[in-house]
Amino acid sequence: MEKGFDRIYGAISRRLLRTVDGIIDQRICGQSLVKYVPSVYRDDANGVGMTGSQSTSYVILDRIFSHVSLTEEDSFLDVGCGKGRVLAFLLKEHAPCALYGVEINEISGSVAVEWTARYEQVSVKIGDAFEMDYNPYTVLFMNRPFLPKTFLEFIEKLESTLTHPITFIYWVDQQSGYLLKDRPGWNMQFREKLTSIYGVKIAKAPQYYSIWTYDPGV
Ligand SMILES: C[S@@+](CC[C@H](N)C(=O)[O-])C[C@H]1O[C@@H](n2cnc3c(N)ncnc32)[C@H](O)[C@@H]1O
Repeated sequence: MEKGFDRIYGAISRRLLRTVDGIIDQRICGQSLVKYVPSVYRDDANGVGMTGSQSTSYVILDRIFSHVSLTEEDSFLDVGCGKGRVLAFLLKEHAPCALYGVEINEISGSVAVEWTARYEQVSVKIGDAFEMDYNPYTVLFMNRPFLPKTFLEFIEKLESTLTHPITFIYWVDQQSGYLLKDRPGWNMQFREKLTSIYGVKIAKAPQYYSIWTYDPGV
């Protein structure tokens, strides 16, 4: 809970991040991706369903991806890509691999489909992440798309179908990332708590991300 000075500092930080993010979005996507799109279904009491579409700030992505190196052989997928902010970030950074997104919410997904159409390197599908085959991908990114029980179901699906190792990047992992701990094949490579970056507060409360590898052969 933010109080007094902290609340004002938080509000100024959020305004600054939205402004900078919107300017970069315009340059890469021709439109702003900052508007929040509410969840199509969530049941917090039972921990099932999906989150709303909130785009991850560029400054946060910059920090996360400083710990990940993508190569030409990689195939990157944002599971629950929203309006496509992560894909825009990777285009801005000249990521060398094919970039994919899947999004269940038609309102945000259609924004991503529309602006990415001009980039051959990127492909976005409107659909359910539970109906995808993950074998074509080597790096999966998630910004907490699912509530915890749904997240666990997703991980079980991944484990039962994947045939090769992947890298798994989990932004905002604090609600369900612990479910990966001690599961065969999963290894956490890195985890960081983010409160502020360059003096700018990134959220009302500290957020965590972790980078994992999963090897189905283990
Ligand atoms: C917090 S947003 C993240 C957006 C984007 N990845 C980013 O970081 O900027 C999570 C997104 O996951 C989507 N999502 C949740 N469940 C999904 C599912 N089963 N299939 C596809 N997308 C899903 C939500 O609709 C929401 O847009």
